Amino acid sequence: MNIIFYEQNTNVDAWLGGLKRELPDADLRLWQPGDTAPADYAIVWKAPRELFANQPDLKAVFNLGAGVDAILDVERKEPGTLPPNALLVRLEDSGMAQQMVEYAKYCVLRYLRRFDEYEAEQREKRWTRLPQHTRSAFTVGVLGLGVLGGEVAKGLLDLGVPVRGYSRSAKSIEGIDVYAGADQFDAFLHDVKVLINLLPHTPDTEGILNARTFGKLAHGAYVVNVARGPHLVDADLLASLDSGQISAATLDVFHTEPLPQDHPLWTHPRVSVTPHISAETLREESIVQIAAKIKALARGERIGGIVDFARGY
Ligand code: NAP
Ligand code: GLV
Repeated sequence: MNIIFYEQNTNVDAWLGGLKRELPDADLRLWQPGDTAPADYAIVWKAPRELFANQPDLKAVFNLGAGVDAILDVERKEPGTLPPNALLVRLEDSGMAQQMVEYAKYCVLRYLRRFDEYEAEQREKRWTRLPQHTRSAFTVGVLGLGVLGGEVAKGLLDLGVPVRGYSRSAKSIEGIDVYAGADQFDAFLHDVKVLINLLPHTPDTEGILNARTFGKLAHGAYVVNVARGPHLVDADLLASLDSGQISAATLDVFHTEPLPQDHPLWTHPRVSVTPHISAETLREESIVQIAAKIKALARGERIGGIVDFARGY
């Protein structure tokens, strides 16, 4: 079988070496502009249209990330970009869930124990003992209860805070207060103190972190966006920080990445910025997962992680 690989900012030799180890009989090559030789599978991140244009017979395209918004956006704008019969397959956890749980726990603990405020106090050399937040009222709401959101919600339970989750379809997760569908959105938001976003970016979820949403949370709530930049209406967050409805935010993803130098989120005293690192694609785990799926497809078996184009994730 022939496999093409495309990822601009990575150690290509390590990826190709690892894939060769897992798939010794495959012919693997780095795709470069002008390469039109047929391939059975493509393993890509943000590939140019040209890669797909000459590959009508691809059986599957493996996306080197959990989110498929970038590739689906190209397909939405220019239908027919992806080969007609190819499955689009995303990464499922592959080491990302643990990273996401760590990031979410860190944010919740930091806000619960007011470390963000103590950091500001230290900068002013002020010795101030702040009253503790009431743990039982420090409700965390996780938007998205999929592969990552589900693990984050469960992982937060050991902090002893109430945890809620929101998804499209109804779920049952021990210890988590679950809400599903647009009809239950406001009930989910009511009195949430920390809102963590782990939704996929789709036409339905774009801009979901907006003034209306913030207004339904507990007064002085915290926002953590680890999904995609376009989920957040930046101006609404800034206004809600000014009004005090939102106390602080931690943002890992942005409309434009890297975040432009003159963007006000860089310097807002109550906004913490990280450069899209909350859960990185781990090479070894991803290679093992993708190779196992290629072998399963070759045997005619079903695999997980197939993207539903209509749902958008
Ligand atoms: P997933 O398994 O597909 O889970 C998505 C969850 O969102 C599901 O629970 C789904 O509901 C829910 N959902 C989707 N549309 C909805 C809607 N309109 N209303 C309510 N709920 C909705 O995805 P995942 O693997 O957990 O990843 C989530 C996202 O995290 C990715 O799409 C990506 O953008 C982001 N991400 C970010 C980083 C980073 O480093 N910052 C790393 C990895 C991933 P159902 O369960 O009912 O389908
Ligand atoms: C990273 O953002 C991913 O979607 O895996």
